[in-house]
Amino acid sequence: MDIEFVRSRFIKHFDGKTGSIYAAPGRINLIGEHTDYNGGFVFPGAVDKGIMCEIRPNGTDKVNAYSIDLKDRVEFGVNDQSGPKASWARYIYGIVQEMKKNGVDVKGFNTAFAGDVPLGAGMSSSAALESCFAYAINDQFGDNKVSKWDMVLAGQATEHNYCGVNCGIMDQFASVFGQEGKLMRLDCRSREFEYFPFKPNEYKLVLVDSVVKHELASSAYNDRRKSCENVVAAMQKKFTDKKIETLRDADWDMLEAVKNDVSDEDALRAKFVLGEKDRVLAVCDALNKGDYETVGKNMYETHYGLSKEYEVSCNELDYLNDIAKETGVTGSRIMGGGFGGCTINLVKNELYDKFIANAKEKYTAKFGHAPKVYDVIISDGARKVE
Ligand code: GLA
Repeated sequence: MDIEFVRSRFIKHFDGKTGSIYAAPGRINLIGEHTDYNGGFVFPGAVDKGIMCEIRPNGTDKVNAYSIDLKDRVEFGVNDQSGPKASWARYIYGIVQEMKKNGVDVKGFNTAFAGDVPLGAGMSSSAALESCFAYAINDQFGDNKVSKWDMVLAGQATEHNYCGVNCGIMDQFASVFGQEGKLMRLDCRSREFEYFPFKPNEYKLVLVDSVVKHELASSAYNDRRKSCENVVAAMQKKFTDKKIETLRDADWDMLEAVKNDVSDEDALRAKFVLGEKDRVLAVCDALNKGDYETVGKNMYETHYGLSKEYEVSCNELDYLNDIAKETGVTGSRIMGGGFGGCTINLVKNELYDKFIANAKEKYTAKFGHAPKVYDVIISDGARKVE
């Protein structure tokens, strides 16, 4: 991301004065998909792509926001009841509201922002936007009194309350807490986490972006979450002596026991979540031993589950996964919520060029457009840049 680029637009679109610059990243996730809102584990890291904003208090109670990439300008009052319509501006509006709930006396400001985290690629451009503004507002108006975790929760609440997505905590967590060169294993129930240096010498992590984003992805995401909750409700009814808050508290026998009390579809969704729970733990164990073959094997199993059980894949992503398998790539799977976006691939160094060439050639031949390729560079979380 380019400071001078953001600054030049900020100066041009407002009163010529400069402000302060902040940035926050998108994320990858090695394994643990759709586990966050089920109280499970995730394994994300922040990336070198994200959102950068310049911001300056303007002495009013109005926010004037300019999206450099969309060339769109929106104004809203800090105390507006309903907020702006433009979806990009609702993230900023939501963060303003949620930071106010955290006790920050947010005043009006001018801001321009731009991003290089690809939209709809499953790398959480929206979490990057939320964390960037949470961090900036905390610094500008809150004396940095709001904790990192509260900024994470403000981002998640923005999605729930203003953007209609009942997401988990992973994306905002990674965007705020990320550290260069380290993945993080987060227990989404207790919120304990650990940094994991991730620098395998013989492998690279690479994202292959299908460049498709399916409409209705947010409502389908919310449906998946609902399915998990339905299964939990059935278990609570059957196992009154047990404390079951999320699928984290469930096991295979319990799922078997409620199979006939829930729809086949809900049971299949829960099957994926229980399997994914086991896979994350297997991957942690394998990483500790430096056993990347086992990491990769679990990634393929996650892809299968996301495609056939959780049903959040699409032809394009399944095809990218097939190409990876055919080329002998160690691990490959859909990353993020699904319904389009990227696969994340664990590739031996010597196979990298062949895999990328194969993916581009075969994918283009089948779908008529090329996938995009991003090398993963694990980077720092939200911060003040200047
Ligand atoms: C999206 C959500 C996350 C998480 C992933 C799937 O990125 O924002 O909370 O649920 O999907 O793992």
